[in-house]
Amino acid sequence: MNVTRCAAAGGPEVLRQATVPDPSSRPGEVIIGVEASGVNRADVLQRKGHYPSPPGAPEWPGLEVAGTVSAVGEGVTARRVGDRVCALLPGGGYAEKVAVHESLTLPVPAGLSMSEAAALVEAACTALSNLREATAQAGETLLVHGGLGGVGSIAVQLGAALGMRVLATAGGRDRADRCVELGAEAAFDYRTEDWATEVAARGGADVILDVVGAAYLEPNLRALATDGRLVVIGMQKGSRGELDLGMLLAKRARVIGTTLRARPLEERAAIVADVERTVWPLVPDRVRPLVHATFPLADAAAAHTMLEAGGVTGSLVLTT
Ligand SMILES: NC(=O)c1ccc[n+]([C@@H]2O[C@H](COP(=O)([O-])OP(=O)(O)OC[C@H]3O[C@@H](n4cnc5c(N)ncnc54)[C@H](OP(=O)(O)O)[C@@H]3O)[C@@H](O)[C@H]2O)c1
Repeated sequence: MNVTRCAAAGGPEVLRQATVPDPSSRPGEVIIGVEASGVNRADVLQRKGHYPSPPGAPEWPGLEVAGTVSAVGEGVTARRVGDRVCALLPGGGYAEKVAVHESLTLPVPAGLSMSEAAALVEAACTALSNLREATAQAGETLLVHGGLGGVGSIAVQLGAALGMRVLATAGGRDRADRCVELGAEAAFDYRTEDWATEVAARGGADVILDVVGAAYLEPNLRALATDGRLVVIGMQKGSRGELDLGMLLAKRARVIGTTLRARPLEERAAIVADVERTVWPLVPDRVRPLVHATFPLADAAAAHTMLEAGGVTGSLVLTT
């Protein structure tokens, strides 16, 4: 089969087509003939040599796919050949075929294309699992940074659908306005607006979903309400910052860090099952993935170039 792999660590040009043996299914696994593969910022980190696939996963990038089951391994009960599924992967999605445990697959929701389904899996798992980490409740205020990003656009829609009051940040007034169209009560242009003061003036955020990291540690803490929970899932602006413990204690706040990819299979399977129970009934009416553009699998470099240039609304998808 054809895959797109990183010939070395570096820029988008290191992404090259290669032919590798087809995957075979171990017990409990299905083979999916991939039609669409989501592109994530983690893939960019992997391409740069900072975020390798975990042991046991293919070395080429790709955390989510959608396609049709072409074979099932021993002991598979939930999926059959011909099922239209999408799946959460620890890696290896930039390929014509993947082997994945059946517990990491979901049916393609009615009303979604394969590209939309591929764009939804990783973001839905990330958004929901981190709302759970933060014990987010209906009626609470959720601040989503990067509300038009792959994860952010799903988190805004999901938070609103679950009854939270959603605030968001985005890079530009037009992008902030789009966050409001997705369900945010208000959204701020982080380039020009003092979002932390604005959020604090609205009573503060009970939960913050943060993709920025160190540079936002201080303003995030200011924006948190008493008993607030800051969940850091990305470090786009640094991994080391200074934390005002006095403010942390005074607010009885919590800072939480998580990753999805390296969790044991059982934990990822539990997240996927929660997504199927909680998010899938909201798709596509309340939660709909935004596909900014699609590219052929062989053209993954162009997708990475576009993602790194910024201004993407939702996700980019590779098609086979
Ligand atoms: N820990 C985990 O399990 C996990 C899982 C999935 C993703 N992630 C991480 O989460 C992050 C987002 O992933 P993604 O796939 O959604 O990437 P993405 O689609 O590229 O989105 C990145 C977002 O970050 C926003 N952003 C950049 N600088 C910002 C700033 N200074 N203030 C506010 N927002 C800012 C961008 O906003 P504009 O485009 O509007 O400027 C954009 O919406 C990445 O760092 C990724 O590695 C972590």
